[in-house]
This record gives sequence, structure tokens and C-alpha cells, in this order.
Amino acid sequence: MCQPGDVVLVPCPAYTLYRINAEMRDAKAVELETAEPDFKVTPELLKKALDKYGEKVKVLVLNYPVNPTGVTYTPDEVRALADLLKNYNVAILDDEIYADLLYEGEHLPMAKLLPDQTLYVNGVSKNAAMTGWWVGYICGPSDVLKALTKVHQAAISTNATMNMDATEEVLRHGKADTAQMKTEYDQRRQFLMDAMDKIGFHYTKPMGTFYLWVKIPDSFDGDSMAYAEHLAEKAKVAIVPVAAFTKLPVRYFRISYAASMEKLKRAVDGLAKVFAEDGSFYD
Ligand SMILES: Cc1ncc(COP(=O)(O)O)c(C=O)c1O
Repeated sequence: MCQPGDVVLVPCPAYTLYRINAEMRDAKAVELETAEPDFKVTPELLKKALDKYGEKVKVLVLNYPVNPTGVTYTPDEVRALADLLKNYNVAILDDEIYADLLYEGEHLPMAKLLPDQTLYVNGVSKNAAMTGWWVGYICGPSDVLKALTKVHQAAISTNATMNMDATEEVLRHGKADTAQMKTEYDQRRQFLMDAMDKIGFHYTKPMGTFYLWVKIPDSFDGDSMAYAEHLAEKAKVAIVPVAAFTKLPVRYFRISYAASMEKLKRAVDGLAKVFAEDGSFYD
């Protein structure tokens, strides 16, 4: 869809590969600078970028619930974005891989509102914990999918048959398993939010995914990579620093709770110890 020099708009912070994939095609990935505390793209922000880059903009990436923040867009927010986007010749790459892991609110797929403009992306890595099986799927306008099939056949050929069979089983019979795991993730989410409140960490309230987006205390003198190293060394906790998700100068890190409760409890103890030892505070 992109020729060299075309623009792909990526609301940030975002999953890293959107920017990398655009750049591999010599397209320009433009980060949309969303704001604290929710880091969501608004119609105003989007319109500014659409008007600034004009016909160069070929794709807008949307991913909700959002990796890494865990927030999502309400149906009204999705409708407001669709109302704007329908006036532009821009495709929406709509990555809904966390849609089954939404704990609060309601999920409205962009593809329902703008089917001719949207490429709907999903997979089984999150809802069926099948990371590593590498099966995803995409729905969209047939002319785009025809071209995509050519590229896919040349680059990848196909996935292993057993992986696709397993995916079919998930899609046909996996709903109850996902629902059961969702309850489990939600307990971990509540546990982590309570723990962060007790410790004193500030964070963005997550509605979905299995991530918690935590603000680095202002008292820490260093960037997000330095804080990640500090936590690894002193708390024995591995987190992902904001630098993996955006070039914006915000100071956050991502905790994944796709880990057992036992490990999360140990991690929380480590974080509490370091937070206190550092004399951490926010301005
Ligand atoms: C937003 C988002 N999209 C897509 C993927 C890709 O998942 P996979 O390649 O494991 O199917 C991930 C994985 O972390 C993700 O967070």
C-alpha cells in the first residue's frame, strides 16, 4: 500500500513493529504524539496530521486495546475517529489482537464502521496464549488482500499446517478457554493496580490487554532505559522501558502480567523495596 516516501501514521506509544515495517518499505512512520494519562489519539490530533501530510498519508495504524498502555477506545471515540477518517483516502490498519481481553467497557471494531477502508488484523497469540505459533489473520477489501497474498506467498509461503489446525480449533471452540483466562488476567490486573497504589507508583488505568503502564518517579535521575536497568539490578524485575514504544520524551515503563501470580507477587515485593529505598516521589 505504501510507496517510498509515503506516510504511515502511528499513534504512540505503540507496538514497535508498525514503525519498523513502515520503514522497511521506505515509508515514513510518523508518530502521533498522544498525551498523558490515557495516551489516546483524538480526532483533533489526527486531523492535524492528516492535513499536514495530505495525500502522502496512506495508512493509519490503530490498535486497541492498546499495547503498551492497556487503555482502549470507547465506541463513541471509535465513531468520532471514523467520522473524520471517512473523508480521507487513508487505509486503517486496525490491530484488534487484544479485543478478547477487555475487562471494562465495550469493544467496537473500526471494521464495522468503515469496512471498505479498514484492514482488520487479529491472531491467536493473545486470546489463546499461542505466541510462537505465528498465526494471524487479516480481513479487508479484496483488491488489497489480493496484492497482500502475492507478497505473503513470496515472503513467507505459509505457516505450518498443525499451527493452522490449532488456530481453527481456537476459533471454533476456544471462547470458553479465553473467558476463563480473562478472569485470571483481570485478577492480576486488580492485584497490580492495588499494589501500585500501595507502593505509590502512578500508572495509566488499564481497561484491557495484559499490560500495566507505569510512570517512572520524577525523583529518578535518568531515562527509561536507565530505570529498566535499575529495576533489573535492584529489584530483579524485568520491565520494558518506554523507549521500545515511542520516541516521545515521556517516562514510563510496561509491566506484563502474562506471568503467574506467584511471580507477580515477587515482582511487586521487589518494586516496593526499590521504590522505598530510592525515596521515590512525583513532583
Ligand atoms: C499489538 C500487537 N499486535 C500484534 C502482535 C503480534 O503477535 P504475534 O506476532 O505473536 O502473533 C503483538 C504481540 O506482542 C501485539 O502486541
